[in-house]
Amino acid sequence: MVGSPNMAVNLGGIEMKNPLNTASGTFGAGAQFEGFFDPAILGAITCKGCSAEPWQGNPSPRLWELPSGLMNSIGLQNPGVRGLIEEYGDYLRGLEAQGCRVICQVVGHSIDEYVASLELFEELADFASGIEVNVSCPNIAQGGAAMGATAQGAAEVVRALRPRTTKPLIIKMAPTNVAEVARACEHEGADALSLINTIPGMAIDTATRKSRVSRPTAGVSGPCIHAIAVALVWEAHNATSLPLCGIGGVSSAQDAAEFILAGATAVSIGTAHLYDPTAAQRILPELEAWVVSQGVNDINDLIGAFECEI
Ligand SMILES: Cc1cc2nc3c(=O)[nH]c(=O)nc-3n(C[C@H](O)[C@H](O)[C@H](O)COP(=O)(O)O)c2cc1C
Repeated sequence: MVGSPNMAVNLGGIEMKNPLNTASGTFGAGAQFEGFFDPAILGAITCKGCSAEPWQGNPSPRLWELPSGLMNSIGLQNPGVRGLIEEYGDYLRGLEAQGCRVICQVVGHSIDEYVASLELFEELADFASGIEVNVSCPNIAQGGAAMGATAQGAAEVVRALRPRTTKPLIIKMAPTNVAEVARACEHEGADALSLINTIPGMAIDTATRKSRVSRPTAGVSGPCIHAIAVALVWEAHNATSLPLCGIGGVSSAQDAAEFILAGATAVSIGTAHLYDPTAAQRILPELEAWVVSQGVNDINDLIGAFECEI
């Protein structure tokens, strides 16, 4: 084989120059990583979830480190769509111009709030290549995972948003009822699915008998959830024909490759960037080398190529 393999993929209408994306909430708006590497090398970035109005998020403490991961209870603190675009709109437009696709994430406590967030993005973020819908945050009292836990709840959100944008709509899924929720989203016209969001966990300070974070439970992320996420991507791959973005514990090219073999078209890096801020820059050439090692010249030939006898 001569030359570099094709690494470009299409995530539900979003043309990415390579499959690497960033997990919402772990990469800011990209600009925060400029001192570490050039985010424009990425296939896409997904921005922090934003509501129509700013949210304060949960009280501190919000983070607790685990032996092989992280628990967070941020509660979707965000500056609101206007705040994000005022501060980073020009930067994000510049990323798009360099071929790094910008995906904006909408959040809400209710259908009306999801709609309000989407409508503001439609008005202010014409440059965005796609919209991700977070129906899976475990750290807020209403909305989030409460919406995405059932096929009916997820369908309701997609049904409300689908007619309001012509941009590709990606649904960010919780690690529950994956096959049913995936099929419901496909039925309502979603273009792609991203999975998984964090998995609810608990850490108790045994001296005080209180939670290590401000709420009883928090979302677990990082290497300790990777194997679970791969299995759920495989489940979604078998349940729908929608393209998938694999998320959960990616810290190496091998982790990213596992998601691709299990059926993911794209792969997001999350928690890894918090302890290794150049992770994506390291993983990208290694992923390309893996494609070559498989004897193919197009990464698309490896999507869902997991070999399974039963
Ligand atoms: C600090 C932090 C903030 C996060 N914020 C969001 C968010 O705003 N929206 C969202 O959909 N997921 C959010 N997530 C979840 C990640 O996008 C990702 O789904 C999850 O962390 C699993 O991937 P990872 O193991 O690679 O981190 C957040 C995760 C962390 C650690």
